[in-house]
Amino acid sequence: MRTIKFNMIEKNDTMEKIVSLCKRRGFVFQGSDIYGGLAGVFDYGPMGVELLNNLKRFWWKANVYDKTNSYGIDSGIFKHPMVWEASGHTTGFSDPLAECRECNTRIRVDKELERIGVAADEKMSEADINALFDEHRNDISCPKCGKKNFTSVRAFNLLVKSNLGDFASEGTEPVYLPGEACQGIYLNFKNIVDTMSPKLPFGIAQIGKAFRNEISPRNFLFRTREMEQADTQFFVKPNENKEAFERIKQERWDWYLSIGIREENLRWKQHDNLVFYAADAWDIEYQFPGGFDELEGIHDRTDYDLTQHMKFSGVDLRYTDPETGEKYIPWILETSVGLGRMFLAVLADAYHEDEMGGEKRTVLRLSPELAPYRVAVSPLLKNKPQLVEKAHEVFSMLKKEFGNVAFDDNGNIGKRYRRQDEIGTPHCIVIDFDTLGEESPELKDTVTVRDRDTGTQERVAIAELVAYLNH
Ligand code: GAP
Repeated sequence: MRTIKFNMIEKNDTMEKIVSLCKRRGFVFQGSDIYGGLAGVFDYGPMGVELLNNLKRFWWKANVYDKTNSYGIDSGIFKHPMVWEASGHTTGFSDPLAECRECNTRIRVDKELERIGVAADEKMSEADINALFDEHRNDISCPKCGKKNFTSVRAFNLLVKSNLGDFASEGTEPVYLPGEACQGIYLNFKNIVDTMSPKLPFGIAQIGKAFRNEISPRNFLFRTREMEQADTQFFVKPNENKEAFERIKQERWDWYLSIGIREENLRWKQHDNLVFYAADAWDIEYQFPGGFDELEGIHDRTDYDLTQHMKFSGVDLRYTDPETGEKYIPWILETSVGLGRMFLAVLADAYHEDEMGGEKRTVLRLSPELAPYRVAVSPLLKNKPQLVEKAHEVFSMLKKEFGNVAFDDNGNIGKRYRRQDEIGTPHCIVIDFDTLGEESPELKDTVTVRDRDTGTQERVAIAELVAYLNH
């Protein structure tokens, strides 16, 4: 039987706390949990899928709805085998792998070199990275057994194969799962031009699945084998790339600030070692619990992608300028971010431990638009039918307005607040005896609204609640 291992989580207190919160509160579970887990695959639970969908919604709004020249698509996962020949993935999409001769653990050599402060990356030739690895072999230990007895480095192709349509099990022309989602955009470039008649420059946006046979998936959602990528490809006139590239970089930076990421946790990193066709490439790095690392890539890909697909498919992918009649292959400026990494960055940024009312608590300071629940509604006591009935009335009213609203009558009020703090619910509403107007008629049909971040409570009329929560 194949041995299935959990993802490695690098020893890091905050990361461990985030992973534990994600499991405890229904954000993220290890994929195939009951079978011991499948490395590099995660499932989003009821809280996680809400946060994930909110992130997607925000991203889509910024990259499709808020633009006048952007088109959204959703392409099929499986693609013609030639796609990956044309893109260069069948030959050039690899990571440098070495294996421990003692315990067979595989390591990604570029990452191990980086960890000890030696500049390396996956784009180096096999010979170059072997030379560098040999120089530093004595400084790298196997993460499992601690020995330093590794094989030499070989380039390991990351594409995941399927047997789609291969009924004779010949395996000669495998249909791959996408190594990157953006290929679906290039394949539909002509369809968009033909159906939507866009004028250059314009963008195509997509959120799509990608799969990579990562040698060592690790750090929770940071490096997984199955992922979702949110991509935009912006098509510009050849050599009219520089200004647009700077604008796109700024837009993506500002977008992270708009979803509440603290600016001190972001930084730019320009690639030193560009792939042969790229004109420029930058990463937005986020300060994850283990340190700064790539969150999103912003790449000037020149005319490489469309040129390759035109060559391999034989279909003319040139754009015809409607004014001059000139034909050319547009250059592509790409933004690409893994939703899992985005999700992890948002959680890490929102995660806080503090003290409220003399009690320690964990709180997710998510913006109200991202939080899984917009608000929670509670009857003060769950065994008082009048309170419960009124709470259900308020709950239904708020659900119509906000969609995902929690009804929480579990445990005492203090416990409910702690639970809602941990999942980032911005406000908790309590229906009490004053709401019923039993003792103070002037408070009839008012509720207590408690703020997650300050713990302050205000008395608000039920009729004003929607406006209050929206302000
Ligand atoms: N189309 C370009 C492309 O795929 P990339 O730098 O390989 O470029 C883009 O990936 C983004 O996808 C990264 O910045 C990262 O956010 C995310 N990503 C890449 N590999 C990942 C993995 N194994 N697990 C999770 N996210 C990943």
